[in-house]
Amino acid sequence: MENSLMEKVVSLCKRRGFVFPGSEIYGGMANTWDFGPLGVEMKNNIRRWWWNFFVQRRKNMVGIDAAILMNPKVWQASGHVANFNDAMIDCKECKGRFRADHLIEEAIPDVKVEGLDVKALSKLIEENKIPCPTCGKRNFTSARKFNLLFETHIGAVEKDSAAVYLRGEIAQGMFVNFKSVLGTSRQKIPFGIAAAGKAFRNEITPGNFLFRTVEFDLMEFEYFIRETEWEKTFDYWLKEMHSWLDFIGIRRERTRVREHDKKELSHYSKRTVDIEYRTPFGWKELYGLAYRTNFDLKNHTEKSGEDLNYFDPETNEKFIPHVIEPTFGWSRTFLILLLEAYTEEEVKNGKSETETRVVLKLDPKIAPYKAAILPLMNKPELAAVADKIFAELSPSFSINLDVTGSIGKRYRRQDEIGTPKCITIDFDTLRDSTVTIRDRDTMQQVRVKIKELKGQLA
Ligand code: GAP
Repeated sequence: MENSLMEKVVSLCKRRGFVFPGSEIYGGMANTWDFGPLGVEMKNNIRRWWWNFFVQRRKNMVGIDAAILMNPKVWQASGHVANFNDAMIDCKECKGRFRADHLIEEAIPDVKVEGLDVKALSKLIEENKIPCPTCGKRNFTSARKFNLLFETHIGAVEKDSAAVYLRGEIAQGMFVNFKSVLGTSRQKIPFGIAAAGKAFRNEITPGNFLFRTVEFDLMEFEYFIRETEWEKTFDYWLKEMHSWLDFIGIRRERTRVREHDKKELSHYSKRTVDIEYRTPFGWKELYGLAYRTNFDLKNHTEKSGEDLNYFDPETNEKFIPHVIEPTFGWSRTFLILLLEAYTEEEVKNGKSETETRVVLKLDPKIAPYKAAILPLMNKPELAAVADKIFAELSPSFSINLDVTGSIGKRYRRQDEIGTPKCITIDFDTLRDSTVTIRDRDTMQQVRVKIKELKGQLA
């Protein structure tokens, strides 16, 4: 049943224009996805509200939008060139390539693989006689480390060009701009720098639709503190991350907090917890919260020669700030919100027959359209009113003007894309300047004056 939920959501995404397979007319490109007209609205809403919740509502948060390509020395200093690895294993028979920990998790779900080194992973695969998922044979290479950074070249002639990396996390943009932001924003510790954008990872086994892709969207911030404040600040942001889940409509009871054990911690972290979500394919990381110590600013100070110390004018102290980092998979949030919102209901149709209604019960903040305007019939006088209402509402709300098909079909279509309100224009509208507003979830209809529509939607 749960797998079929995933299939239904993927199919709805394609059918209604949320997400299309990448480069589809060329046969696609595995695990790349393009956001369509509805998807881009919803994705922008997620970011807009995240920015509002974590940046605009707080006096000590500021944002940046850094370049994707950075000086390759950044990735050496950050430790990603040396440590940003997954363990991969190849099948010698069919040449299939797999992530060793994923292979084990799929074959023996109870086993704990986090933090195991390549030797331990190879041993587990051998001892448990795990077969190749593609050809079924048991003839693997040893597991070995595989760096996740994508490499490319800048320069027209390959032999003269310099190797650079597509950013593997957006955090480094915040660290390398720490001094400039501090100098221009006049912030004092504690304060945070936030960003949202693309990250790239050469994942060995991507999959599950938007969940694990090689190019994905992230929202995160680095919160700079004194070392002594780290535990208190960590707890504070964990609470705030849960409030964010409530705010956008992800049920807490479908999430859990999982502590990383010592072996699993990233090279920069002293403590990390994941907020996991119970997906149709198991408990998976949705968000992360890490105490990165002063690892990044210290290394960038050493490697760049730029002094990234913070000077406290009140105490005359000089120190390299420590960092708490809440990180939010943006494309994962998109997928989880769709899984949360997808609902099927049995309802009576106009002929008193029972039919299944598909409704995306998205929070109105997140829904691609806030309202749809539906002229009851294809008549010029109704179309003129529809255009007038569209012109009035569209500067403030994203509005869909839907004119084709029977009114029942149009209601269903809007339910399926999560539009909270449908505004129907009929012949009474021409007489008394009223319209019907239909609620997506209750399907109840009320009659309101056109001049009250803006207030009603707000
Ligand atoms: N700066 C910290 C950092 O990047 P991470 O746990 O490696 O931490 C952050 O990644 C978030 O990005 C994760 O919590 C997850 O939601 C999302 N994420 C990671 N890899 C992803 C992938 N291949 N596809 C989609 N989302 C991914």
